[in-house]
Amino acid sequence: MKAVSRHWAASVHVALSLIGLPYAAGTSGVCSKKAISRSFFSSTSVYMCSAAAHVKARCPVYPGSDTHRFPVPDHTVDWDTDCPQYSPVKYTAPTVLNKPAWADPEIGSFSPQFNSIDGSVDRRSHEGSYRVQNGKPLNPHGRTGLEGRGLLGRWGPNHAADPIVTRWKRDSTGQCVHHTNSQLPVLQFVSIKRLDCGEWAIPGGMVDPGERISQTLQREFSEEALNSLQASPSQRENIQKRIAELFNSAGLQVYKGYVDDPRNTDNAWMETVAVNFHDESGNSVSELPLQAGDDAGQVSWIDVDSSLALYANHLHFLETVAKERNAHW
Ligand code: BGC
Repeated sequence: MKAVSRHWAASVHVALSLIGLPYAAGTSGVCSKKAISRSFFSSTSVYMCSAAAHVKARCPVYPGSDTHRFPVPDHTVDWDTDCPQYSPVKYTAPTVLNKPAWADPEIGSFSPQFNSIDGSVDRRSHEGSYRVQNGKPLNPHGRTGLEGRGLLGRWGPNHAADPIVTRWKRDSTGQCVHHTNSQLPVLQFVSIKRLDCGEWAIPGGMVDPGERISQTLQREFSEEALNSLQASPSQRENIQKRIAELFNSAGLQVYKGYVDDPRNTDNAWMETVAVNFHDESGNSVSELPLQAGDDAGQVSWIDVDSSLALYANHLHFLETVAKERNAHW
Protein backbone atom coordinates (compact mmCIF):
# COMPACT_ATOMS: atom_id res chain seq x y z
CA MET A 1 0.00 0.00 0.00
CA LYS A 2 1.29 3.44 -0.65
CA ALA A 3 0.74 6.83 0.78
CA VAL A 4 -2.92 7.35 -0.17
CA SER A 5 -4.67 7.24 3.21
CA ARG A 6 -7.46 4.79 3.64
CA HIS A 7 -9.59 4.90 6.77
CA TRP A 8 -12.50 2.77 6.00
CA ALA A 9 -13.94 -0.66 6.25
CA ALA A 10 -15.45 -2.20 3.19
CA SER A 11 -16.93 -5.25 1.66
CA VAL A 12 -17.46 -4.40 -1.95
CA HIS A 13 -19.58 -6.50 -4.18
CA VAL A 14 -18.44 -6.18 -7.75
CA ALA A 15 -19.92 -8.87 -9.96
CA LEU A 16 -17.33 -10.59 -12.13
CA SER A 17 -18.07 -11.71 -15.62
CA LEU A 18 -16.24 -14.42 -17.46
CA ILE A 19 -14.95 -13.22 -20.78
CA GLY A 20 -12.56 -15.85 -21.97
CA LEU A 21 -10.67 -19.01 -21.13
CA PRO A 22 -8.09 -19.32 -23.88
CA TYR A 23 -6.72 -22.74 -23.05
CA ALA A 24 -6.90 -25.55 -20.55
CA ALA A 25 -3.87 -26.61 -18.60
CA GLY A 26 -3.50 -29.68 -16.45
CA THR A 27 -2.15 -29.12 -12.96
CA SER A 28 0.81 -31.08 -11.71
CA GLY A 29 -1.85 -33.03 -9.87
CA VAL A 30 -0.35 -32.66 -6.42
CA CYS A 31 -3.56 -31.67 -4.68
CA SER A 32 -6.13 -30.82 -7.27
CA LYS A 33 -8.06 -33.69 -8.77
CA LYS A 34 -8.99 -32.32 -12.14
CA ALA A 35 -7.50 -30.14 -14.83
CA ILE A 36 -8.27 -26.46 -14.59
CA SER A 37 -8.81 -23.92 -17.30
CA ARG A 38 -6.52 -20.94 -16.97
CA SER A 39 -5.91 -17.66 -18.58
CA PHE A 40 -2.53 -16.40 -17.58
CA PHE A 41 -1.45 -12.91 -16.59
CA SER A 42 0.64 -12.66 -19.71
CA SER A 43 -2.32 -13.47 -21.96
CA THR A 44 -5.98 -12.45 -22.15
CA SER A 45 -7.67 -11.30 -18.93
CA VAL A 46 -10.02 -13.82 -17.42
CA TYR A 47 -12.17 -11.48 -15.44
CA MET A 48 -13.06 -7.88 -15.95
CA CYS A 49 -15.31 -5.71 -13.89
CA SER A 50 -19.02 -5.58 -14.55
CA ALA A 51 -20.98 -2.45 -15.30
CA ALA A 52 -23.00 -2.87 -12.08
CA ALA A 53 -23.78 0.43 -10.33
CA HIS A 54 -21.25 1.26 -7.66
CA VAL A 55 -22.47 1.24 -4.06
CA LYS A 56 -19.46 1.84 -1.79
CA ALA A 57 -18.58 4.82 -3.97
CA ARG A 58 -21.84 6.42 -2.78
CA CYS A 59 -21.33 5.75 0.96
CA PRO A 60 -22.99 8.67 2.80
CA VAL A 61 -19.94 9.87 4.75
CA TYR A 62 -16.62 10.12 2.92
CA PRO A 63 -13.89 7.99 4.65
CA GLY A 64 -11.54 9.78 7.03
CA SER A 65 -13.73 12.90 7.08
CA ASP A 66 -17.11 14.17 8.16
CA THR A 67 -17.98 15.23 4.62
CA HIS A 68 -21.41 13.99 3.51
CA ARG A 69 -21.88 13.08 -0.14
CA PHE A 70 -24.79 14.54 -2.09
CA PRO A 71 -27.28 11.61 -2.10
CA VAL A 72 -27.30 9.67 -5.37
CA PRO A 73 -30.18 7.19 -5.63
CA ASP A 74 -29.67 4.21 -7.98
CA HIS A 75 -31.64 5.74 -10.84
CA THR A 76 -29.44 8.85 -11.03
CA VAL A 77 -26.04 7.14 -10.95
CA ASP A 78 -25.73 7.14 -14.75
CA TRP A 79 -24.27 10.40 -16.12
CA ASP A 80 -26.66 10.12 -19.07
CA THR A 81 -29.68 10.36 -16.78
CA ASP A 82 -30.70 13.97 -16.49
CA CYS A 83 -30.34 15.17 -12.91
CA PRO A 84 -30.66 19.00 -12.81
CA GLN A 85 -30.70 19.04 -9.00
CA TYR A 86 -27.34 17.21 -8.78
CA SER A 87 -25.03 19.28 -6.61
CA PRO A 88 -22.00 17.20 -5.55
CA VAL A 89 -20.04 18.26 -2.49
CA LYS A 90 -16.47 19.41 -3.22
CA TYR A 91 -13.84 17.60 -1.18
CA THR A 92 -10.15 16.90 -1.54
CA ALA A 93 -8.37 15.76 1.62
CA PRO A 94 -5.76 18.12 3.12
CA THR A 95 -3.13 15.35 2.78
CA VAL A 96 -3.68 15.43 -0.99
CA LEU A 97 -3.74 19.23 -1.22
CA ASN A 98 -0.39 19.32 0.62
CA LYS A 99 1.15 18.17 -2.68
CA PRO A 100 2.86 14.92 -1.66
CA ALA A 101 4.89 13.24 -4.42
CA TRP A 102 2.12 10.67 -5.09
CA ALA A 103 -0.57 13.29 -5.77
CA ASP A 104 -1.39 15.52 -8.76
CA PRO A 105 -1.73 19.27 -8.34
CA GLU A 106 -5.12 20.93 -8.68
CA ILE A 107 -6.53 21.21 -12.20
CA GLY A 108 -5.82 24.65 -13.58
CA SER A 109 -2.27 24.70 -12.32
CA PHE A 110 -1.50 21.77 -14.62
CA SER A 111 -3.15 20.01 -17.53
CA PRO A 112 -2.92 16.25 -17.36
CA GLN A 113 -3.14 14.16 -20.52
CA PHE A 114 -6.16 12.04 -19.76
CA ASN A 115 -6.79 8.65 -21.37
CA SER A 116 -3.10 8.29 -22.14
CA ILE A 117 0.31 7.70 -20.61
CA ASP A 118 1.16 11.14 -19.27
CA GLY A 119 4.91 11.23 -18.66
CA SER A 120 5.38 8.41 -16.16
CA VAL A 121 1.76 8.40 -14.96
CA ASP A 122 -0.65 6.00 -16.65
CA ARG A 123 -3.95 7.87 -16.92
CA ARG A 124 -5.61 5.19 -19.03
CA SER A 125 -8.48 3.23 -17.56
CA HIS A 126 -8.64 -0.57 -17.72
CA GLU A 127 -12.22 -0.02 -18.86
CA GLY A 128 -11.52 2.01 -22.00
CA SER A 129 -11.89 5.70 -22.64
CA TYR A 130 -13.54 7.86 -19.96
CA ARG A 131 -15.16 11.25 -20.43
CA VAL A 132 -13.54 14.55 -19.52
CA GLN A 133 -15.88 17.43 -18.67
CA ASN A 134 -14.68 20.98 -17.98
CA GLY A 135 -11.12 19.67 -17.83
CA LYS A 136 -11.98 17.00 -15.22
CA PRO A 137 -12.29 13.25 -15.76
CA LEU A 138 -15.69 11.68 -15.09
CA ASN A 139 -16.04 8.48 -13.06
CA PRO A 140 -16.88 5.76 -15.64
CA HIS A 141 -19.36 4.14 -13.24
CA GLY A 142 -21.35 7.33 -12.74
CA ARG A 143 -22.14 9.88 -10.05
CA THR A 144 -20.80 9.54 -6.50
CA GLY A 145 -22.16 12.70 -4.86
CA LEU A 146 -18.68 14.16 -4.35
CA GLU A 147 -16.36 16.07 -6.66
CA GLY A 148 -12.63 16.62 -6.32
CA ARG A 149 -10.27 13.81 -5.38
CA GLY A 150 -11.10 12.99 -1.76
CA LEU A 151 -8.23 10.82 -0.50
CA LEU A 152 -7.05 9.82 -3.96
CA GLY A 153 -3.93 11.40 -5.42
CA ARG A 154 -4.65 11.16 -9.13
CA TRP A 155 -7.35 12.77 -11.19
CA GLY A 156 -9.02 9.90 -13.06
CA PRO A 157 -7.88 6.30 -12.49
CA ASN A 158 -5.70 5.51 -9.47
CA HIS A 159 -4.06 2.19 -10.29
CA ALA A 160 -3.46 -0.57 -7.73
CA ALA A 161 -2.29 -4.19 -8.02
CA ASP A 162 -3.18 -7.15 -5.78
CA PRO A 163 -0.91 -10.24 -5.54
CA ILE A 164 -2.83 -13.32 -4.38
CA VAL A 165 -0.20 -15.83 -3.24
CA THR A 166 -1.64 -19.30 -2.58
CA ARG A 167 -0.55 -22.78 -1.52
CA TRP A 168 -2.38 -25.98 -0.56
CA LYS A 169 -3.07 -26.53 3.15
CA ARG A 170 -1.12 -29.58 4.33
CA ASP A 171 -1.14 -31.73 7.44
CA SER A 172 1.95 -32.65 9.48
CA THR A 173 2.74 -35.49 7.06
CA GLY A 174 2.65 -33.15 4.07
CA GLN A 175 -0.67 -34.43 2.73
CA CYS A 176 -3.16 -31.93 1.36
CA VAL A 177 -6.05 -31.23 3.69
CA HIS A 178 -9.54 -31.72 2.20
CA HIS A 179 -12.53 -29.89 3.64
CA THR A 180 -14.98 -32.13 5.48
CA ASN A 181 -18.02 -30.60 3.75
CA SER A 182 -16.90 -30.04 0.17
CA GLN A 183 -14.25 -32.84 0.12
CA LEU A 184 -12.15 -30.41 -1.91
CA PRO A 185 -8.55 -29.46 -1.10
CA VAL A 186 -8.22 -26.31 0.99
CA LEU A 187 -6.23 -23.39 -0.41
CA GLN A 188 -4.40 -20.90 1.81
CA PHE A 189 -3.47 -17.35 0.81
CA VAL A 190 -1.15 -14.74 2.27
CA SER A 191 -3.23 -12.10 4.00
CA ILE A 192 -2.29 -8.93 5.81
CA LYS A 193 -4.18 -7.03 8.48
CA ARG A 194 -4.33 -3.44 7.26
CA LEU A 195 -3.20 -0.83 9.74
CA ASP A 196 -5.69 1.78 8.46
CA CYS A 197 -8.98 -0.08 8.93
CA GLY A 198 -7.98 -3.28 10.75
CA GLU A 199 -9.41 -5.51 8.02
CA TRP A 200 -7.71 -8.58 6.55
CA ALA A 201 -6.77 -8.05 2.92
CA ILE A 202 -4.62 -9.14 0.03
CA PRO A 203 -1.24 -7.34 0.36
CA GLY A 204 -1.89 -4.99 -2.56
CA GLY A 205 -0.89 -1.43 -3.19
CA MET A 206 -0.63 1.47 -5.59
CA VAL A 207 1.30 1.24 -8.85
CA ASP A 208 4.19 3.73 -8.70
CA PRO A 209 4.73 6.09 -11.66
CA GLY A 210 6.58 4.29 -14.43
CA GLU A 211 6.23 0.92 -12.69
CA ARG A 212 4.95 -2.15 -14.50
CA ILE A 213 2.08 -3.96 -12.77
CA SER A 214 4.19 -7.11 -12.52
CA GLN A 215 6.76 -5.08 -10.54
CA THR A 216 4.10 -3.61 -8.23
CA LEU A 217 2.74 -7.07 -7.45
CA GLN A 218 6.16 -8.34 -6.43
CA ARG A 219 7.22 -5.16 -4.59
CA GLU A 220 4.03 -4.86 -2.54
CA PHE A 221 4.20 -8.54 -1.56
CA SER A 222 7.84 -8.19 -0.47
CA GLU A 223 7.21 -4.98 1.48
CA GLU A 224 4.01 -5.96 3.26
CA ALA A 225 4.24 -9.74 3.74
CA LEU A 226 8.01 -10.22 3.96
CA ASN A 227 8.97 -6.82 5.40
CA SER A 228 11.69 -6.36 2.79
CA LEU A 229 11.94 -2.61 3.55
CA GLN A 230 13.44 -3.42 6.96
CA ALA A 231 15.63 -6.28 5.73
CA SER A 232 19.39 -5.96 5.36
CA PRO A 233 20.66 -5.82 1.75
CA SER A 234 21.70 -9.49 1.86
CA GLN A 235 18.35 -10.61 3.38
CA ARG A 236 16.55 -8.54 0.78
CA GLU A 237 18.49 -10.18 -2.00
CA ASN A 238 17.55 -13.60 -0.66
CA ILE A 239 13.86 -12.62 -0.44
CA GLN A 240 13.90 -11.24 -3.98
CA LYS A 241 15.54 -14.38 -5.32
CA ARG A 242 13.03 -16.66 -3.63
CA ILE A 243 9.96 -14.79 -4.75
CA ALA A 244 11.17 -13.90 -8.25
CA GLU A 245 10.70 -17.47 -9.42
CA LEU A 246 7.08 -17.60 -8.29
CA PHE A 247 6.21 -14.13 -9.52
CA ASN A 248 7.96 -14.68 -12.84
CA SER A 249 5.83 -17.76 -13.44
CA ALA A 250 2.59 -17.20 -15.33
CA GLY A 251 0.10 -15.82 -12.82
CA LEU A 252 -3.63 -16.32 -13.11
CA GLN A 253 -5.21 -12.91 -13.62
CA VAL A 254 -8.51 -12.95 -11.77
CA TYR A 255 -9.62 -9.34 -12.06
CA LYS A 256 -8.81 -6.18 -13.95
CA GLY A 257 -10.90 -3.04 -13.73
CA TYR A 258 -12.79 -0.52 -11.65
CA VAL A 259 -13.12 -1.08 -7.90
CA ASP A 260 -16.25 0.05 -6.08
CA ASP A 261 -14.19 1.76 -3.39
CA PRO A 262 -15.52 4.28 -0.82
CA ARG A 263 -12.65 6.64 -1.66
CA ASN A 264 -13.97 7.10 -5.21
CA THR A 265 -15.31 10.45 -6.34
CA ASP A 266 -16.83 11.88 -9.52
CA ASN A 267 -13.31 12.73 -10.74
CA ALA A 268 -11.01 10.10 -9.17
CA TRP A 269 -11.44 6.35 -8.72
CA MET A 270 -9.63 3.10 -7.88
CA GLU A 271 -8.82 0.41 -10.43
CA THR A 272 -6.88 -2.78 -9.80
CA VAL A 273 -5.38 -5.87 -11.39
CA ALA A 274 -5.47 -8.97 -9.17
CA VAL A 275 -3.17 -11.86 -10.07
CA ASN A 276 -2.87 -15.26 -8.42
CA PHE A 277 0.60 -16.82 -7.97
CA HIS A 278 0.27 -20.40 -6.77
CA ASP A 279 2.99 -22.38 -5.00
CA GLU A 280 1.76 -25.82 -6.05
CA SER A 281 4.47 -27.88 -4.38
CA GLY A 282 4.65 -25.70 -1.28
CA ASN A 283 8.40 -25.29 -1.42
CA SER A 284 8.93 -21.84 -2.91
CA VAL A 285 7.44 -18.75 -1.23
CA SER A 286 5.66 -21.00 1.28
CA GLU A 287 8.99 -21.59 2.98
CA LEU A 288 9.80 -17.91 3.54
CA PRO A 289 8.97 -16.62 7.04
CA LEU A 290 6.13 -14.10 6.82
CA GLN A 291 6.74 -10.78 8.54
CA ALA A 292 4.37 -7.82 8.40
CA GLY A 293 5.85 -4.60 7.05
CA ASP A 294 5.00 -1.18 5.60
CA ASP A 295 1.21 -0.61 6.02
CA ALA A 296 0.52 -4.14 7.33
CA GLY A 297 -0.05 -4.81 11.06
CA GLN A 298 -0.05 -8.60 10.84
CA VAL A 299 0.50 -11.21 8.16
CA SER A 300 -0.62 -14.82 7.96
CA TRP A 301 -1.52 -17.77 5.73
CA ILE A 302 -5.32 -17.96 5.89
CA ASP A 303 -7.61 -20.78 4.71
CA VAL A 304 -9.64 -19.76 1.67
CA ASP A 305 -13.34 -20.06 2.50
CA SER A 306 -16.50 -18.23 1.47
CA SER A 307 -17.18 -17.19 5.07
CA LEU A 308 -14.12 -14.90 5.27
CA ALA A 309 -14.67 -11.17 5.80
CA LEU A 310 -12.16 -9.25 3.71
CA TYR A 311 -11.39 -5.69 2.65
CA ALA A 312 -12.95 -4.16 -0.49
CA ASN A 313 -13.80 -6.76 -3.18
CA HIS A 314 -10.97 -9.10 -2.20
CA LEU A 315 -13.31 -11.97 -1.29
CA HIS A 316 -14.53 -12.05 -4.87
CA PHE A 317 -10.98 -12.41 -6.14
CA LEU A 318 -10.50 -15.41 -3.85
CA GLU A 319 -13.74 -16.99 -4.98
CA THR A 320 -12.48 -16.86 -8.54
CA VAL A 321 -9.13 -18.38 -7.53
CA ALA A 322 -10.80 -21.19 -5.52
CA LYS A 323 -13.17 -22.06 -8.34
CA GLU A 324 -10.46 -21.93 -11.01
CA ARG A 325 -8.23 -24.22 -8.95
CA ASN A 326 -11.07 -26.56 -7.99
CA ALA A 327 -10.45 -25.88 -4.32
CA HIS A 328 -12.82 -25.71 -1.38
CA TRP A 329 -14.87 -22.53 -1.29
C1 BGC B 1 -5.36 -1.53 -2.02
C2 BGC B 1 -5.73 -2.73 -2.88
C3 BGC B 1 -7.19 -2.57 -3.30
C4 BGC B 1 -7.39 -1.22 -4.00
C5 BGC B 1 -8.83 -0.97 -4.37
C6 BGC B 1 -5.62 -0.25 -2.77
O1 BGC B 1 -5.38 0.85 -1.91
O2 BGC B 1 -4.01 -1.61 -1.63
O3 BGC B 1 -5.56 -3.92 -2.15
O4 BGC B 1 -7.58 -3.63 -4.16
O5 BGC B 1 -6.99 -0.17 -3.15
O6 BGC B 1 -9.68 -0.95 -3.26
